[in-house]
Amino acid sequence: MADPYGLRRVIEPSGSMPQPAWKIDNTMACGEDEILIDVDVLNIDAASFAQIKTEVGAGEASVTKKMMEIVATRGKHHNPVTGSGGMLIGRVAEIGSRSSKREELKVGDRIATLVSLSLTPLLIETVKRVDLATAQVEIEGQAILFDSGLCVKMPDDLPDLVTLAVCDVCGAPAQTARLVKPGQTVAVLGAGGKAGTLVLAQVRRNIGTNGRLIAIEYAESSAKEIRAMGYADAVIVADARNPVTTLALYEQHAGSALADVTINCVSVAGTELASIMITKDRGLVYFFSMATSFTTAALGAEGVGKDVDMMIGNGYAHGHAELALDLVRGEPGLLALFQNH
Ligand SMILES: NC(=O)c1ccc[n+]([C@@H]2O[C@H](COP(=O)([O-])OP(=O)(O)OC[C@H]3O[C@@H](n4cnc5c(N)ncnc54)[C@H](OP(=O)(O)O)[C@@H]3O)[C@@H](O)[C@H]2O)c1
Repeated sequence: MADPYGLRRVIEPSGSMPQPAWKIDNTMACGEDEILIDVDVLNIDAASFAQIKTEVGAGEASVTKKMMEIVATRGKHHNPVTGSGGMLIGRVAEIGSRSSKREELKVGDRIATLVSLSLTPLLIETVKRVDLATAQVEIEGQAILFDSGLCVKMPDDLPDLVTLAVCDVCGAPAQTARLVKPGQTVAVLGAGGKAGTLVLAQVRRNIGTNGRLIAIEYAESSAKEIRAMGYADAVIVADARNPVTTLALYEQHAGSALADVTINCVSVAGTELASIMITKDRGLVYFFSMATSFTTAALGAEGVGKDVDMMIGNGYAHGHAELALDLVRGEPGLLALFQNH
């Protein structure tokens, strides 16, 4: 029977879809509508990786142990605290006889998955290397892609690790391209990260010469890199977990015109209120961050009397990977940044 969403792999709770499921079956036998992948590298979601490092310490051994524990418990790399996953690159090992991807893929193709590790059956045999700075983890292991699961063939004009990093966050620039209009004032929090820098480049393309782009970044070193890239009209160093200070710094550096659109790309929790407070009345806050709390955002906005629209960062938008990879190809500064991190 056709099972494009991988429902038969759900172990508990019964009736759940694989993403919200607590545990899925990670037996590495390729179903007739599945793809079996030999995995090379995992790109752990930034919010998940930051949480793991905070919980167990930022060492390769402790992070490896925690990752193995998550996969052994859940059958997928689904962080129980942040709820987020990441994505992977690997080689197609087997294609089920009834897979709809038989035309598009062949055994041996190198692919990046565009669905979250939080729903991807995964078996880790060995963790070979953990890059504590980039959250990229080399493993020996296998994964299953369901028939509905999106993937992209690895392009040969970009380094693999750049493609992996860009594809992980490609929903952010794609949604930005739809949301941001010419002449708007746009603020980006977490502007120095992977999603943040892609968003800065896309915003600059959208707002034109009359728009304003305000970048908010935590570390001075990253702020320096953003200044050098030249996309932002103002670069502010602030801890976005402190909304009052962030608003004061915004007004000091960017003036009293609050943002029409604010895009949150931060990897840590507790930045909802800063995003809301720097956004003008009837403006839009786009929460791409996986560390966003719906409750904090909804009740926090109500509490400070801000009538703003708020949007959840859907990881998928039509053509998102192509848009993000083309953005990097067309922006040498951005490509250099991704290559050097
Ligand atoms: N919605 C989706 O489908 C989806 C998909 C993938 C990822 N995500 C989420 O997108 C977010 C960004 O991911 P990424 O891979 O771009 O992460 P990243 O490269 O690690 O970037 C995170 C950024 O947040 C900044 N930051 C950290 N603490 C901060 C603070 N207290 N105040 C202000 N900025 C702070 C970091 O600054 P420093 O470098 O200076 O510390 C960095 O610029 C994460 O939350 C991730 O979970 C969402």
